[in-house]
Amino acid sequence: MTETLIEVRNVTKMFGSYLAVDNLSLNVQRGEIVVLLGQTGAGKSTVLNLIMGTTSPNQGTVRVAGVDPYNSFKALKGRLSVSFQTDRLLPWRTAVENAELGLLILGKPKSEARKTAREWLRRVRLDDADDKYVHELSGGMRQRVSLARALAIDPEIVFLDESFSQLDHVTSRALRRDFYQIARELRKTCLLITHRIDDALEMADRAIVLSSPARIALEVGIDETARADPARIAELHAQIAAAMGGEGDDDEH
Ligand SMILES: Nc1ncnc2c1ncn2[C@@H]1O[C@H](COP(=O)(O)OP(=O)(O)OP(=O)(O)O)[C@@H](O)[C@H]1O
Ligand SMILES: [Mg+2]
Repeated sequence: MTETLIEVRNVTKMFGSYLAVDNLSLNVQRGEIVVLLGQTGAGKSTVLNLIMGTTSPNQGTVRVAGVDPYNSFKALKGRLSVSFQTDRLLPWRTAVENAELGLLILGKPKSEARKTAREWLRRVRLDDADDKYVHELSGGMRQRVSLARALAIDPEIVFLDESFSQLDHVTSRALRRDFYQIARELRKTCLLITHRIDDALEMADRAIVLSSPARIALEVGIDETARADPARIAELHAQIAAAMGGEGDDDEH
């Protein structure tokens, strides 16, 4: 049975007189991985902010797990996690001290938070780095710490905003694979925001391309059969690139 966990219905968002989101409707079902693509400025991060409740729509409704994320922010505490392009780690804390941050904020006892954070650093394949400071970690390692921090609170919904975009292609591919495996295994509901088509081709159940102001230019389903078929993947790649105005970023296609 499907259960709608994220619902955006007829949402319009203005910044002053600038129309950023134009009557947008989209849903994410429980356990689904949806990848939201679009050129820079298409409004992807704005849509994410609306869903996370850090901004409110001018028109329309947003529901996350049945609640209005802007007006009932507290009801979603601990149920959502986000990881960003810039890892947003605290430089004066070590890897494990960063990874445990979400748990401490939620009031978990320090020893338990530390233990869970260490387990998550292992799960995201970061070994021997627990006690290193941020400046001692590579970009990929930092992104792994950021993922560990996001996942450690065991959220129902995981948001990634360009989490893999700043990394080189080999590193981003490795991270995508690890994240995908964890998300699937734990049946997390994920909304991933990216301008890299490969993120969608490798991870999405559904890819949604936004054009500016944010409205749906293309929506395609991708399943494991499609993923195993290079011709189908090439076709999807071309379709998504065209919907993005031919400016989709690429790994090596
Ligand atoms: N707080 C704000 N105030 C004014 N304008 C904003 C604000 N946030 C976003 N915008 C504008 O809304 C549009 C969409 O921005 P948004 O950050 O959502 O795009 P994006 O698709 O995430 O782009 P990128 O790929 O570069 O991250 C842009 O034109 C941006 O300048
Ligand atoms: Mg953005």
